Amino acid sequence: MNSPAAPFVPATPATPARQPFHDTSQDFHQFLAAYREAFPEDVLHIREPVGADQDPTALVWALAAQGRHPALLFDHVEGLGTSLATNLFASRERVGRMLGGVPPAGIHAEYQARSRRMVAPRVLDSGAVTGHVDTEHIDLRTIPAIRHFATDRGPYITNAILIAEDPDSGIGNASFHRSMLHSPTEIATSLHSRGHLWRMQQRAAELGRPLPVAMVIGAHPLFMLAGAARLPFGVDERHVAGGLFGAPLEVVRTPRHGILVPAHAEIVLEGVIDPEARVDEGPFGEFTGYSSDRSTNNLLRVQSVMRRTDAWLVDVVGGNSAEHLNLGRIPRESEMVEKLRERFPGITGVHYPSSGTHFHAYVALRQSRPGEARQVMLGLLGWDPYLKTVVAVDDDVDLTRDEEVLWAMATHLQPHLDVVVVDGLPGSALDPSASGVGTTSRMGLDATRGPNFDGVRARIDEAAMRRATALLARIGEPAAPVP
Ligand SMILES: Cc1cc2nc3c(=O)[nH]c(=O)nc-3n(C[C@H](O)[C@H](O)[C@H](O)COP(=O)(O)O)c2cc1C
Repeated sequence: MNSPAAPFVPATPATPARQPFHDTSQDFHQFLAAYREAFPEDVLHIREPVGADQDPTALVWALAAQGRHPALLFDHVEGLGTSLATNLFASRERVGRMLGGVPPAGIHAEYQARSRRMVAPRVLDSGAVTGHVDTEHIDLRTIPAIRHFATDRGPYITNAILIAEDPDSGIGNASFHRSMLHSPTEIATSLHSRGHLWRMQQRAAELGRPLPVAMVIGAHPLFMLAGAARLPFGVDERHVAGGLFGAPLEVVRTPRHGILVPAHAEIVLEGVIDPEARVDEGPFGEFTGYSSDRSTNNLLRVQSVMRRTDAWLVDVVGGNSAEHLNLGRIPRESEMVEKLRERFPGITGVHYPSSGTHFHAYVALRQSRPGEARQVMLGLLGWDPYLKTVVAVDDDVDLTRDEEVLWAMATHLQPHLDVVVVDGLPGSALDPSASGVGTTSRMGLDATRGPNFDGVRARIDEAAMRRATALLARIGEPAAPVP
């Protein structure tokens, strides 16, 4: 019995053992080789040929339906001419291992500690990505891409990290932007999250200048994690990557604009975002689980291509896949935990559930005074521009299980007292329910027990649970609680 509504057994929280994994490379191929050696059961190697139209996504969905989230490596994807790796970030266990082997519950602290130890990149003359450099004969039809969903406009580059430098300060920025082929020399892309690249592009457009950018397609997972980080304007994600690696990010200069890109990346395209041009882009299966054509419709004119001779397509599964959601929310959760804990030390956890895409967050706390849960929720709702609903619970609730949080709501919350709604705030452009003017309302649900709560949780003694476990073992039934 593992249902939250079931009688309560005093918790002996499962603390997964640390599984050390050390990969000092900054190279995806080396990372995957080392990872497969250490955790062979966690990488599913598909040798059979598959199609490039939805087949990898379908496999990810079929595995997820079984509760499985292995990294996937495909040898033969129709028409790709290269191996395909995907689903790297779908499991928090795996992300913990990327960070040296911390258990999932330790990811936030480890991520924050490492990302704060920023290190400037180290410039090399060459690296794997300079294996093949072309500035003359650009033909983007040779860049591998797959179609993820039946509703997508076509094949998409989902793992496109765009690096640019601020036209005024020169400070660098890296962020993910879905991208598709527009012509043999042009890429259509979307800056809809209106983050720092959007800001730089707006500034360049004001100055009437094209914005030079480099698009990194495939690199070591820690570089990808840095690319997903949300940082104050002026903090360069390449320095954060150095922090995550514990060593300077090794970079080379792109041939045309001298942008510093990971030296051991798979593929890098370099060019400029046109200040004026707007082109068709989307629809694409987004993190909301909806196919979205909300796009800023930008155009990148590609001027050079760098690729390692044995480049792979390192893909990110789109839609509301575990991978897409984890990549965005792990840096965000980590940032939020740290911010909140500075002010509210009683916070014991923050979790963005997959069911809520990026719009819901759960926070657990030990309240030190009445009203604190409300204050915490308002803090979180104010800081995170995507959030619509925050649920606050007591620290004995397992935030990683939706049904526990729903149970806390069912039994602790009085709607007329415990719901706070704020309207007219900026929201995610991709929220299908958001108003035409781009604003959203936000809600805090206080599902903590509160000072006057007098319920007594039904309880089973640990000794009785041990007897039950032993009995099940004797009659050949699974002894471990079924999740
Ligand atoms: C896998 C993935 C795909 C993303 N795709 C897009 C996108 O297509 N357009 C966009 O504007 N933001 C996209 N984002 C969000 C930004 O890349 C992300 O918020 C980034 O942290 C913003 O960086 P910034 O703080 O430097 O602006 C994506 C994020 C992830 C993790």
